Amino acid sequence: MPGDYIVKDIALAEFGRKELDIAETEMPGLMALRDEYGESKPLKGSRIVGSLHMTIQTAVLIETLVALGADVRWASCNIFSTQDHAAAAIAAGGTPVFAIKGQTLVEHWDYLDRSFQFPEGANLILDDGGDATLYVLLGARVEAGETDLIEVPTSEEEEAIFNQIKKRMAESPGWFTKTRDAIKGVSEETTTGVHRLYELVKEGQLPFPAINVNDSVTKSKFDNKYGCKESLVDGIRRATDTMMAGKVAVVCGYGDVGKGSAASLRGAGARVKVTEVDPICALQAAMDGFEVVLLEDVVDSADIFITTTGNKDVIRIEHMREMKDMAIVGNIGHFDNEIQVANLKNHKWTNIKDQVDMIEMPSGNRLILLSEGRLLNLGNATGHPSFVMSASFTNQVLAQIELWTRGETYKNDVYILPKHLDEKVARLHLERIGVKLSKLAPEQAAYIGVTPEGPFKPEHYRY
Ligand code: NAI
Repeated sequence: MPGDYIVKDIALAEFGRKELDIAETEMPGLMALRDEYGESKPLKGSRIVGSLHMTIQTAVLIETLVALGADVRWASCNIFSTQDHAAAAIAAGGTPVFAIKGQTLVEHWDYLDRSFQFPEGANLILDDGGDATLYVLLGARVEAGETDLIEVPTSEEEEAIFNQIKKRMAESPGWFTKTRDAIKGVSEETTTGVHRLYELVKEGQLPFPAINVNDSVTKSKFDNKYGCKESLVDGIRRATDTMMAGKVAVVCGYGDVGKGSAASLRGAGARVKVTEVDPICALQAAMDGFEVVLLEDVVDSADIFITTTGNKDVIRIEHMREMKDMAIVGNIGHFDNEIQVANLKNHKWTNIKDQVDMIEMPSGNRLILLSEGRLLNLGNATGHPSFVMSASFTNQVLAQIELWTRGETYKNDVYILPKHLDEKVARLHLERIGVKLSKLAPEQAAYIGVTPEGPFKPEHYRY
């Protein structure tokens, strides 16, 4: 349907298209899938709702899904992460997209709802952080009278989703249940969304199969790590132009994102300290050469604070009260509750520019808060570079093909793509960067118990 989109400015489409053309040259995995499946169109008949940062890289993902036969409607999974020229290019190409950088929370859920409105109904979800899945499942539970949660929102976010659910229920009674029952599966992009899916399985509430894309090795050990290594400092620089060399930076969490983030700051010359709760990750940080500290002990002396935990209340109001004047505070984890931003609301905020605020604390000290505590690499910069997103999104496309073509062979559980596909994703990215891969002699393969074509590692291997 013409005009079936909400973007900032459709005139940005030409600029978006030029950047898309460049991104394609850096996304060999996605382009190889177009070559491999462009004719057979394994996604024909699928109607995919995408809820994932509407960036240039995502635009290449969307066009790959379409090239493979899918019908697609898209929303962003974060209010600050859209690149308006990418959204415009996708809309101009005829795929409905609902995403504007700086949209409100109310718009966030409205746009997500719109991305579900295929005339014949959606049948697959491609999620990042789990909001699309949550929307349908929560709505269906409310319709079934299973939860009265909806009457007592405890945050602005909850109020926004609950109001949207009520609106949809009033407009189309039974819509959530019908939609839930038509969904054949979901592929989930990130650690936080995957966490939500495993919780649903534990509660017996997952009504369709899910593929955990995050835990493909070629996703979490690349995007979360090497992606953040490039995009964290990019975000801090674009937001503040601060001199990084010599500053003391604290990275909370030393998982995959924390490892990339600490490396990013060290690469820029900062003196980096790490906080952790897991002794294994704490030991890794120490042996990678980072001082592992308690946040309380460094809170009044460090210059930059970054949360990477996927947990809540990591930087709390009592920490921020102790910070020195002009300390920079930001989060690169999926949700904004890692930093107690809500507790800063009654302080004096001065907006410096989009996604950069200065907040005056009771002591008179000021903090620079990035992206209101939402993931700053996408809020203040443009997220990870195309090449690493190609690996992530190649996994996404393979997961969607699997769910669409063989979904009925899966139970309502969470699955990881088989190792041979993980290795395929890596293989598709070697040539672009001139990697030459050695070959196993048959005797060598037999000696280590694999075949010369792979898989090369047992399932329990951790990379
Ligand atoms: P992870 O589970 O590998 O790492 C999180 C680490 O934080 C763990 O080692 C955990 O022990 C630690 N942690 C938890 N609570 C803590 C606390 N109170 N203090 C200190 N450390 C604590 O997860 P991963 O893959 O690193 O993802 C982290 C977050 O980043 C998730 O929300 C994920 O969805 C998000 N993400 C963001 C990306 C971006 O581009 N901004 C890219 C990929 C993931």
